Amino acid sequence: MSAPSPADLLPLAGRHVVLGVTGSIAAYKAADLCSRLRQLGAAVEVVMTPAAARFVTPLTFQALTGRAVVVDVFAADEAEAHVEVARRADAFVVAPATADCLANLASGQTPDMVALTGLATRAPLLVAPAMDNQMWEHPATRANVETLRERGVHFVGPGEGRLASGRVGPGRLAEPAEIAGAVRAMLGQVIGDLRGRHVVVSAGPTQEPIDPVRFVGNHSSGRMGFAIAEAARDRGARVTLVAGPVAPETPYAVERVAAPTVAEMLCALEKATASADALIMAAAPVDFRPLDPAAQKLKKLPGQETLTIRLGKNPDILATLPGPRVRVGFAAETENLAANAVAKLAAKRLDFIVGNDVTAPGSGFGTETNEVTIFYAGGTVEQLPLMSKYAVAHAILDRVAARL
Ligand code: CTP
Repeated sequence: MSAPSPADLLPLAGRHVVLGVTGSIAAYKAADLCSRLRQLGAAVEVVMTPAAARFVTPLTFQALTGRAVVVDVFAADEAEAHVEVARRADAFVVAPATADCLANLASGQTPDMVALTGLATRAPLLVAPAMDNQMWEHPATRANVETLRERGVHFVGPGEGRLASGRVGPGRLAEPAEIAGAVRAMLGQVIGDLRGRHVVVSAGPTQEPIDPVRFVGNHSSGRMGFAIAEAARDRGARVTLVAGPVAPETPYAVERVAAPTVAEMLCALEKATASADALIMAAAPVDFRPLDPAAQKLKKLPGQETLTIRLGKNPDILATLPGPRVRVGFAAETENLAANAVAKLAAKRLDFIVGNDVTAPGSGFGTETNEVTIFYAGGTVEQLPLMSKYAVAHAILDRVAARL
C-alpha cells in the first residue's frame, strides 16, 4: 500500500472492512466504531451473532453502513452471500468479541456469521475482546487467546476498568478510537510499504525554562509531525515520535518520547535514530535558551521596568546527528523561502527539506492544512498544492519510501 492519491485522502479509503459484532453489552460501542470506520473512508459491512442482535438491532448498522447486515447463516437469500462477505474483506474486525466468540475463532467452529466469517476469510483479523474479568482470566480463554495470537491474529484491549457486572478488572472493550487506530496499524503491518522500517519523527516546539513557571517557546502545534507519525504507522512503519510539550493524543501504536527542551530532544533523537531508517524532523526546536534559568520564580523588584535574560545558542539537532540513512528537515519561513531552505538543506546534510511560508493562508502553525515546496539535495524543486497535513505527510513518506 502506498499513499492514498491526493483526491483520496482518507486513511481507509478503498478498504473494505467487515465488522463482526457479538453478544456483549459493549455491542452498542460497535455502532460508534462503525461510524468512525466510515468517516475514515472505509466501506463497512456488518455481520452479527443472534445474541448481538438482541443488544443492538441490525437496523442500526444497516443505517450506518448503507448495507444489509447478515445475522442468520441459514437465511435463504444469504446462503450464497455469507462466504462472499468473508472474501470481500480487506480486514475483519470483531468488536466486541465475547469469550464464546474467541472459543469459536480458536477452534474453527462456525455456529454463527461472525465465527463463519472468521474461518472463511483470508483477510487479517483484529479482535477486540469484551467480557467479565473472570471469563477473560479463565484458563480456557487464556488458551484461546494464545492460540489466536500464535496464528497471527491481532488484538486490541481489553482495557482495565469498571465492567458491566460492577466489578473492576480487565475486560472492558477498547475505546472505538483505539480500535480504529488498531485497524489502520494492522493494515499497515500487513500491506504497508514501510513495514519493517523504523521511522523517527520529531514534533512540536521546545520550552526552554526561564524559571520554574516561565519559558522561551514558539507557536508550533505539533500537528504536522503527528500527522507524519500517523501516516507512517498507517504504512506499516515502527514509529518513534519525539515530541515537545504539545497536546495531541499519541496515535495508536506509536511510541512517544517526551522532549521538553532541545537538550532532551537531542538526547532522545540520538537514541531513537541509532537503529532508524529515516528521520523526519518536523519539530521547531528553540534556537536560543536562557543561560541561567532561575531556581525560584522570578519576582518583580520595586521600580523594576525591564528584565534582561541572557540567551545562549542551542545545538542544531539535525546538524549534530550523524544518521540515519534518510534525513528530512523542515524550513518554516516568513521570507526568502527558497534561499533559506536550500542553505539549511546543505548545512544539515538532508535528502530533502520541506519548506513552507508560514504567513501564507492555510499554512503554518495550528492549521489543519499545509502548502509546501520540497527542495532536494540534487537541486530539484517541487511545489505541492494546498493539502491536509495528513496528505502532506503521505507525500513526504512517498519520497522517503523511494529512498529506502
Ligand atoms: N532544527 C534542529 N535543531 C535546531 C533548530 C532547528 O534540528 N536547534 C531543525 C528543525 O527541526 C528543522 C530544520 O532544522 O527541520 C530547520 O529549522 P528552522 O527553525 O527552520 O531553521 P534553523 O536551522 O533553526 O535556522 P533559523 O532559525 O535561522 O531559520
